[in-house]
Amino acid sequence: MIFHEILIVGGGLAGMRAAIEAAKKVKDVAIVSRVHPMRSHSGEAQGGINAALANVEAGKDDNIDKHAFDTVKGSDFLADQDASEYLTYQGPETIFEMEHWGCPFSRTPEGKIAQRPFGGAGYPRTCYATDKTGLYLLQTLFEQVIKANIKVYEEWVVFALGSENGTCYGVIAYDPNSGELVPIGANAVIFGTGGIGRIYSNTTNALTNTGLAMGAPFWAGVPLKDIEFIQFHPTSLARSHILMTEGCRGEGGYLVNNKGERFMKNYVSEKVMELGPRDIVARSIQTEINEGRGFPDGSIHLDLRHLGAAKIMDRLPGIRDICLSFIGIDPIYEPIPITPGTHYSMGGIDTDIDGASRMKGLYAAGECACVSMHGANRLGGNSLLDTIVYGARAGKRASEYVRDKEKGPKTKTLEEALKKEESKIAQWKKGNGEGNPYKIKNELSEVMVEGFSIFRNEQAMAKGLGKIKELKEKSKKLRPAFNGKRYNYDIIGFYDMRGNLDVAEAIATGALSRKESRGSHFRIDFKTRDDVNWLKHTLAYFTETGPRLDYSPVKITKYKPEERKY
Ligand code: FUM
Repeated sequence: MIFHEILIVGGGLAGMRAAIEAAKKVKDVAIVSRVHPMRSHSGEAQGGINAALANVEAGKDDNIDKHAFDTVKGSDFLADQDASEYLTYQGPETIFEMEHWGCPFSRTPEGKIAQRPFGGAGYPRTCYATDKTGLYLLQTLFEQVIKANIKVYEEWVVFALGSENGTCYGVIAYDPNSGELVPIGANAVIFGTGGIGRIYSNTTNALTNTGLAMGAPFWAGVPLKDIEFIQFHPTSLARSHILMTEGCRGEGGYLVNNKGERFMKNYVSEKVMELGPRDIVARSIQTEINEGRGFPDGSIHLDLRHLGAAKIMDRLPGIRDICLSFIGIDPIYEPIPITPGTHYSMGGIDTDIDGASRMKGLYAAGECACVSMHGANRLGGNSLLDTIVYGARAGKRASEYVRDKEKGPKTKTLEEALKKEESKIAQWKKGNGEGNPYKIKNELSEVMVEGFSIFRNEQAMAKGLGKIKELKEKSKKLRPAFNGKRYNYDIIGFYDMRGNLDVAEAIATGALSRKESRGSHFRIDFKTRDDVNWLKHTLAYFTETGPRLDYSPVKITKYKPEERKY
């Protein structure tokens, strides 16, 4: 049986940063990654990573406390403030570490790391490497993973945890090449599996970002925190929903309706305009579309033309490439048709500020985790920082946790976990229902868009939850189309489908229960924030009959909740 002292699930930024930190103290660290680390979805992050460096003239008064306050205010005061403070206070050091490890950040004329404005931030605070920041950071960390000799199980998919009496002892993974389910023992497991955007059809997320990212811990009894808070990025390319970075607006791009009007002045102050926080900008765009001020294809225009060819090619070359390749539009000469797209899950595997979950030996970091520093709405540019800061913290804590542990797998626990998954798959193979998991995934993704989007209400959500339950029933009778052992992507599709359905049900149940509007969760039947009754985190526990909800307090340090004004 395979054993590693520390096993990281996920080879994106959070996972690799956790592995690198853990490997400083622990010899035997390995990563299991569903895709090759260089193909992780972190590589799709475009616009940048926040840190209060005060490198440009307009940002000279910036500091880490202002970054912390912007983060807490952006979160609509649901963030645990100690977590937001730790994130932002670590910002400058984190950027310098990435720079020293070789990340090719763009530069100011004086040679400092360049910074651009992003939404909800008082100053230009977002450090960037053109518009491919995530990709360059991924390369930077992958080099360190190679240097540290960390073993990577490429394209293996984790289906379940091996746990007993509230302690995690490893995972059950599928190795497509051998076709075997493989138990991997570990004294600590760190999840860095990313987001779940593919639960929705209109997402900027990669095909691999399914509910399975949070499924295994959820099924094993670890709660999902604040999972009802789903972020809609204001600008995704119309129809395909490929990300059009906030950097477009940071560099001065306009949002324009069918009357040629820069409508953001009707929603936020003229000083803020296109650079409001994402929840507000996404709602403003959707309102323009809903009220008939969109273009005939249902889009709003993101206009970069006034920036000029030189700036677009220097700062936003990737955006220009995407527009040329996918819709045949050159943003130097034509506006980009955009709509909001599902982008990020503020909620996730419930952890404390060390990335430790309620299950001993199980940690999580990055988007799959909810520490929670983003609360009800994350600011653009804080996610890349989160992956590196909290990836490192979880890696360090896990290395301390394993220090006195006996080395070797807990064989019986893992064998039992293996049997459970094998019998689950055998059972699926006997199914006699109509349809297939991909159809269910597609239907579910439309249900989520209809019921749990930018504007929510009781009736639509109740209908949506009913449909999710129907789809769950239907899914129980299905059978994978392919019965072979090796490269059986239908089996992975089954786990994805189950993850999507169960996490979707948690989103729906949490959203229906939360009778207020806060951050990304906007209810037209409860339009205001209600701190008296709802300044609390939702905890959703998995049960066979649907999630059980509980609540936990929000940590307030020095920022008293106040009305958000932009
Ligand atoms: O707009 C963007 O470049 C995305 C950044 C983020 O989600 O932090």
